[in-house]
Amino acid sequence: MADAPAEGYGPRTAPPRKHTVPDLRLRKGGEPIVMVTAYDAPSARIVDEAGAEIILVGDSLAMVVLGYENTLQVTLDDMVRHGAAVARVKPRALVIGDMPYMTYHTGARDAVLNAGRFVREGGAEAVKIEGGRKRLDVVRALVDAEIPVMGHIGLTPQSVHALGGFRVQGRAVEEIEALFDDARALSDAGVFSLVLEGIPADVASALTAAVPVPTIGIGAGAGCDGQVLVFHDLLGLFPGPAPRFVRRYADLHGAAVEAVGRYAADVRARAFPAPAESYKLPKSAQDALRERAGARARGWAWEV
Ligand code: KIV
Repeated sequence: MADAPAEGYGPRTAPPRKHTVPDLRLRKGGEPIVMVTAYDAPSARIVDEAGAEIILVGDSLAMVVLGYENTLQVTLDDMVRHGAAVARVKPRALVIGDMPYMTYHTGARDAVLNAGRFVREGGAEAVKIEGGRKRLDVVRALVDAEIPVMGHIGLTPQSVHALGGFRVQGRAVEEIEALFDDARALSDAGVFSLVLEGIPADVASALTAAVPVPTIGIGAGAGCDGQVLVFHDLLGLFPGPAPRFVRRYADLHGAAVEAVGRYAADVRARAFPAPAESYKLPKSAQDALRERAGARARGWAWEV
């Protein structure tokens, strides 16, 4: 369609601008970046309408959606399918695909091919990988393949067995030094942002000051350049005790159980559906049926 003239079609507002990797890089030290996970079209719509700048299609999918105990079982096929559902919403937020376990641990070539699938089939605009200096080759190869990379250090859930559980990292001096070396090396290798997970707040603030890329914290205090929470944690959709860093802004699990309970009670009491929630037979069909029934009563071979 040709461009509409400047006048005559009523007030026009520019469409909201898409959040991009270069924009987010510039947010270092500025207004905190909001990142939330989403795994399907409804959750992506909610996060995007709420104004988050980044949607992470997190491998937490494994635990909060697929019911696994940790993130190790989720596959690239799972992640790509869910990423594609998020991307179909065409969110304004940047969509980051979380590379699942064993899709980048076997080398840079595998990482590029798998991340390429996430981009092509899963709609990811960037990917996130866990780990520090041992991932530098992978980061460089992904950046060379034009795939922006978010790093993730500290408590890296894919290392749950190596770490001996989901434990806060960076409490001992050697661990803190290692985190600084990891953060600087990842930044030099080209990550555009860095998730800091499960790290004492003072350490995360110092790491944030030490790297030129925005840090996004989860369980890492308020001194990061942004924060991320898991959708189901934030909304209280994942019942049971939550880690200390989770703030529940709603109890949607409780609200949903209550709503389904009321529906069940209505069904049992035959209070659902009401006439207004049912379809009516048109008057012409009612008349025709009555006529056929009358004919049958008079011995005609009509079948209704
Ligand atoms: O998978 C995920 O949800 C994550 C965030 C917690 C950073 O990796």
